[in-house]
Amino acid sequence: MNVERIRYAAANQVMERSSEQGKSRACAMRSCAVRGARVKVTAPSTTANLGPGFDVFGLAHDTFLDTVEIEVTSQNKIEVEVTGVDSSSVSCDSNKNTAGVVANSLVERLPTGCGLRIRVNKGIPVGKGLGSSGASAAACAFGLNRIMRLGLSSDQMIQLAAKGETASAGSPHADNVAASILGGFTIIQSYEPFHVIGLSPPENLRVALAIPNVLTTEKKTEYARAILPKLIPIEKMVHNVGQASSMIVGILSGDLDLIGRSMIDAVVEPERAKFVPGYWKIKKSALAAGAAGVAISGAGPTMIAVVDEEKVPSIQVAEAMKEEFETEGIDCRAFASKPAKGANIVEER
Ligand code: HSE
Repeated sequence: MNVERIRYAAANQVMERSSEQGKSRACAMRSCAVRGARVKVTAPSTTANLGPGFDVFGLAHDTFLDTVEIEVTSQNKIEVEVTGVDSSSVSCDSNKNTAGVVANSLVERLPTGCGLRIRVNKGIPVGKGLGSSGASAAACAFGLNRIMRLGLSSDQMIQLAAKGETASAGSPHADNVAASILGGFTIIQSYEPFHVIGLSPPENLRVALAIPNVLTTEKKTEYARAILPKLIPIEKMVHNVGQASSMIVGILSGDLDLIGRSMIDAVVEPERAKFVPGYWKIKKSALAAGAAGVAISGAGPTMIAVVDEEKVPSIQVAEAMKEEFETEGIDCRAFASKPAKGANIVEER
């Protein structure tokens, strides 16, 4: 049974790291980090919700990633630089940038007179529902845990990264950052007390992504959350609990059809579909092309299809969605992805 496998792996890593730091821990807590120390971290793109799991389910995919380099400086400030894909639409203000918000929240744990330089290189398209803001926050939390020797558990690291999400979504939802840190499929069991469970997706699970070139509002996620109903009729709750539970059974038993059939959301999808031109037609085309299930990726407008690669190549499903977007007069990019591993330290000194 692979329940919590990834989570435990991540927790073990944290524990190993803490014991390596062993005796110097007390000193590390005083001085926290070494001037000039530098770490470079990658974190993958993610899809939140996957239909019925609003703010609960997350899946990391391997098509895009953000890279965040963190350096301890002798400047008494947090500096943020942003380069890469869509970087002109990402703030360098440390109070607004998701990585900057994470760094700011730890400022009092830096040695006196020290600061941080955070270089964010965006690889994940911004504002498309691919967990772009979450990945920058996730990479930053992961890197700061290392460079400042914080010894955080994976739950604590995810909570730290979720603070960054407030900068873009107005609320600290943790579904994207959980998947971006742990990789694979993640479930936020509860926010209070906070606990995340990680699962390994079935080997044959593939993902088709269709990223339409539609204009979104500046605070897209905040808006996409504001339009959601505040009260849910009990029938819809019953429906979503049934679908979400079935999806987990599908993941644990490797039943791709069950996963796909469970990607039906009675609460969020009907509201947000209105903002994805041709959504229901595109979903139908993807299913006709062999997708097991289709949903809006996070707050959209990207659409995600789960595909059993033993039945159909995921690029075929992605292309079917792209074509349907194009018949709506909307340019679209199609990608075939696999589930990804989580945040990773790629350089350190
Ligand atoms: N669960 C969040 C939402 C994810 O759907 O608003 C945003 O990426």
